This record gives sequence, C-alpha cells and structure tokens, in this order.
Amino acid sequence: MKDAINIPLSRTTMQLITKSLIAGTVLSLGSGFGTGIGIASVSAETHLMFNTSAQFNYNAYPWHQSFNLLWETLMSIRTRIGIWPTDTWTNYDDIELIFNNLKSAYGNVSPNGFDQDKWALPFLQHGKELYSQAKSYEGKNNTLASEMYLCLQILISLFRRTASVFRLGWFPWVHSNTSHSSLKKACWDLEKQTYERGLALAHYSFETVNIPFKLKPHDSVYDTIPIYVNYALSKGKRNGGSNRTKAKTVILVCGLDRYRSGQLTNVQLLLSLGMNVITVDMPGTGDAPITGRDTGADTLLWRQLLDWIEANAGAKGFDKDNLWAWGTSTGSYWSIKLSRAEKNRLKGVLAQGAASHYTFTRDWLESADHLSYAVDLWAPLASTFGYVDDKHAFADVASNYSLLNQGVLDQDAAKLLSINGVEDTTFPIDDTLILSYYGKGAFLRMAPGFDHMGEPAATEWLQNFWAAVADGSVANKY
Ligand SMILES: *[C@@H]1O[C@H](CO)[C@@H](O)[C@H](O)[C@H]1NC(C)=O
Ligand SMILES: *[C@@H]1O[C@H](CO)[C@@H](O)[C@H](O)[C@H]1NC(C)=O
Ligand SMILES: *[C@@H]1O[C@H](CO)[C@@H](O)[C@H](O)[C@H]1NC(C)=O
Ligand SMILES: *[C@@H]1O[C@H](CO)[C@@H](O)[C@H](O)[C@H]1NC(C)=O
Ligand SMILES: *[C@@H]1O[C@H](CO)[C@@H](O)[C@H](O)[C@H]1NC(C)=O
Repeated sequence: MKDAINIPLSRTTMQLITKSLIAGTVLSLGSGFGTGIGIASVSAETHLMFNTSAQFNYNAYPWHQSFNLLWETLMSIRTRIGIWPTDTWTNYDDIELIFNNLKSAYGNVSPNGFDQDKWALPFLQHGKELYSQAKSYEGKNNTLASEMYLCLQILISLFRRTASVFRLGWFPWVHSNTSHSSLKKACWDLEKQTYERGLALAHYSFETVNIPFKLKPHDSVYDTIPIYVNYALSKGKRNGGSNRTKAKTVILVCGLDRYRSGQLTNVQLLLSLGMNVITVDMPGTGDAPITGRDTGADTLLWRQLLDWIEANAGAKGFDKDNLWAWGTSTGSYWSIKLSRAEKNRLKGVLAQGAASHYTFTRDWLESADHLSYAVDLWAPLASTFGYVDDKHAFADVASNYSLLNQGVLDQDAAKLLSINGVEDTTFPIDDTLILSYYGKGAFLRMAPGFDHMGEPAATEWLQNFWAAVADGSVANKY
C-alpha cells in the first residue's frame, strides 16, 4: 500500500509539483518505493481537487439552475463551437429550436433531475423530421457525377447531424434495457440508425457485430456484446474483402454520455493513423449486456471481447500483438479495470478523464451535480452501476466501486497511461494521480487550467501519442 507521510501541502504547492511533472514523467510510486522524494511524500489527505475549496465553488457553474441558464451559459456556446456535449456535426439551428421549446415550457426549471421523457420529446420530434428529410434525399439520384458526389456529402452530414440530435435527446444516460424512459430509448435507437446510415454512405469500412456472450453472468440482460468495427483505411481505400491487411487495433471503451455511435472524432483520428477501431458501450450504458452492479462481471465481458478479437484476428486483420484500449470519461474507469483483467493481451491502455476512487464518495457525488458537468451527474452515474434512478442507494455503497477499495489498483497491469485536466470537476484529478501511487503506477499527462478530459489541450498530445502507437515508436517515447 501507499506510504503516507503527513506533509501538508497546499493546493498551490501541489500544482507546482504537478506542473513540473507534466512533461510526461512516469510516476511509479507503489509499495516499498522511497518516501523521501517529490510526490511520493504526499499524504492521502492531500488533494488537488477532492475536498478542496474548488469542489464547492458551485457559483462558477450557473447552468444547473434553469433551462434558461443552461442554454445561455453552456449549450448555446458549446453548440456554436461543436464541442461536448455537442459535436462537429451538430447544427446550431436544430439545438436552438429545441431549446426554445424547452425554455418556453420549463425556462425557470432546473435541468438537474429533470423528467427524462420531457427532455427527450423535442429532440425526438425534431430528429424525426430531419431523418425523414434525409431519407427522401437518399431516394433522389442525380446523373452528374460531381453533383452526385456533392449530394452524397450533404446526405452524409445530414445523417450525422440527425444522429447528434438523437444523441442529445437521451443525454446524459440511457440503457436500452434498464432505463425507465421510453422516449430516451427511442432516441438511442434512432441515433444508431442514423449514424449507421451515414457511415455506410461515407468512405468507411464499417461493420456492426453482435459478439455471442457465452461467458455471460446470470444477471446479464442480453446474450450478445454489440460492437462497431471500423477497419483501417488502406492507402485511402476501403480495406475490405475476406483478407484484410493486418493493422494495430484500438478498443474504444465509451463513456457515460457517448456510446459506440458517438465516437466518430476519435474513430477518425485512429483510422487516419492506419489502425482498426472497435467501439464498445461500457457496462450499464447503450446496449451493454451487463450493468456495473456486480464488480466481477466486466471481467467476463472483456474476456469475451478479447477472445473474439483473437479468434477473428486473421480474417479481420486485427494485429493480436498490438491491441490497445482507450477509455474516455467514465469509460476510463472501465479501461483501468481492463488494464488489469487483460494485462497479457493488451499492449497498453489509455485512460482519459479518469474516475477511480474519490469519485465514489457521497461527498463527491453530491458536489458533481453542481460543477462542470452539464446536468446532474450523480443519478446518471448511479444508473450505469445498476442503481437506476436510485442515486441514494448507490451513494450508500459507492465505496465498493472504488478501484482502490476493490484492490484493482494494486493488481499487475498492462502499461497504463492517463491524461486529464488538473481542474477537472467532473471526476477529481486526484483519481488520476492515485493511479500512479499503486501497483505498477501509470504514465500521467496532466493539463493545468483545463477541465474534464484535459480538452482541448489534450488533443495534440493524443494525436502524438496515437501516432507513436501507430508507427511503433511508443515504447521509446512514452
Ligand atoms: C475534508 O477535509 C476535512 C479537513 O479539512 C476533514 O475533516 C474531512 O473529513 C474531509 N472530508 C472528506 C470527505 O475527506
Ligand atoms: C439511383 O441510382 C442507382 C445507381 O445508378 C440505382 O441503382 C438506383 O435504382 C437509383 N435510385 C433511384 C431512386 O432512382
Ligand atoms: C431486460 O432484460 C431482461 C432479461 O433479459 C428481460 O427479462 C426484461 O424484459 C428486459 N426489460 C426491458 C424493459 O427490456
Ligand atoms: C487470403 O489469404 C489466404 C492465406 O493468406 C490465401 O490463401 C487466399 O488466397 C487469400 N484470399 C484472397 C481472396 O486474397
Ligand atoms: C460493499 O462492501 C462491503 C464490504 O466489503 C460488503 O459487506 C457489502 O456487501 C458490499 N455491498 C454491496 C451492495 O455490494
């Protein structure tokens, strides 16, 4: 376990230490490691975010108060730029129209804990209009090749734009079996349909696979693990046919509010580097066959997924010796477990925006509803662990879900890297730091001044990191 010498360090001192480490230092401070140097002497009671004044600075996040403020102070700005919770393909006018709708009915109502069907309804209605528009264009043909190409591009972006309306319709959480909201489930269904249609038209080699979940535990809700496989583009062409060129393969473990059809930005980055990408919904989200309630169940999910990858490596071109995982946001929690469960089959794991330990306290869960997350975080997170719309029951047992308390952090692991913003108020940065204190430690890249996932500062690092994975120089560089 961690050596805890009680040297009280101020937040500022800790930030200085942190800043001196951000150039990419391996922090490997497990048991038996000397306590005399640098960060090794930080006590468990010293935090950068958890239980500091920043955890309680609720005034900085006005959007929890009302739909009016959610639009004015967050959604209108994010939609213009096309960043989370929207994306590059989101159309401003769509979201403005939908929010005008919500504001006129619930302008002064808090979006936190808001009725899920009432949230979903205007997104569902508008999304369906866009969808039928797209379908009608799909039927029209133009004889001129260049015009056809143009039409196709418009059609592809219309499908993506529609998918992003449906995605926001179920935001921040849905699961096709355990969710109580039929309208959110309808949005999820239509997001997949529109995303798949858009991708099929575009220049991708793309496949939907339902892996038989033979190892499934008794409380599974489905018999399959649904995944999307995006095959590496071979010299700009579709890498198709029965014999695909062998390529490095990345498993993208999706998060709380973006599932296997919501990762196109990351998918495009990895494809552009010549790698295959598999996207999978994390437990308790999308169409995952298990929730996170049973802390042992995910091991079976990962084993089944890796077994399938191995069994299909030859036919589908997965380079078995170069399998990586990338967990984003809450997906990072599962990717850390994956780094332990599949340490022998994975070359490395990147956890971006980690939740690992301090997140799983009633104190943090209560605060998180008032901090940087766009709406309330506690109940949706609880729902992914199988405590659907029962956040208090989850808080009562939250410590059971800490990876430290489960002993997961102490276990042997594949190479683990983690990147996040130091000012993260979705999951405290202490959950990233702690990865370096136990077991084999981790390679940490922290971005001071940035919030959850370290974006947009993280983008360049991520590009360089994945490029190094792709060209094989990663072992020397990270
Ligand atoms: C927060 O810090 C105070 C001391 O400043 C301590 O008494 C309290 O137990 C801490 N709370 C948690 C949840 O760690
Ligand atoms: C569009 O063109 C394709 C290929 O030329 C043809 O197979 C299809 O039937 C046409 N569709 C319509 C609705 O005209
Ligand atoms: C969820 O899955 C269980 C087990 O497969 C099934 O019995 C139940 O009907 C499903 N519920 C819904 C709402 O789909
Ligand atoms: C696929 O690869 C196998 C073994 O490498 C080879 O025997 C076969 O001819 C290839 N098929 C095609 C269609 O290229
Ligand atoms: C939580 O962990 C405690 C201590 O290990 C255990 O007694 C309890 O049954 C667990 N609760 C749940 C709901 O798993």
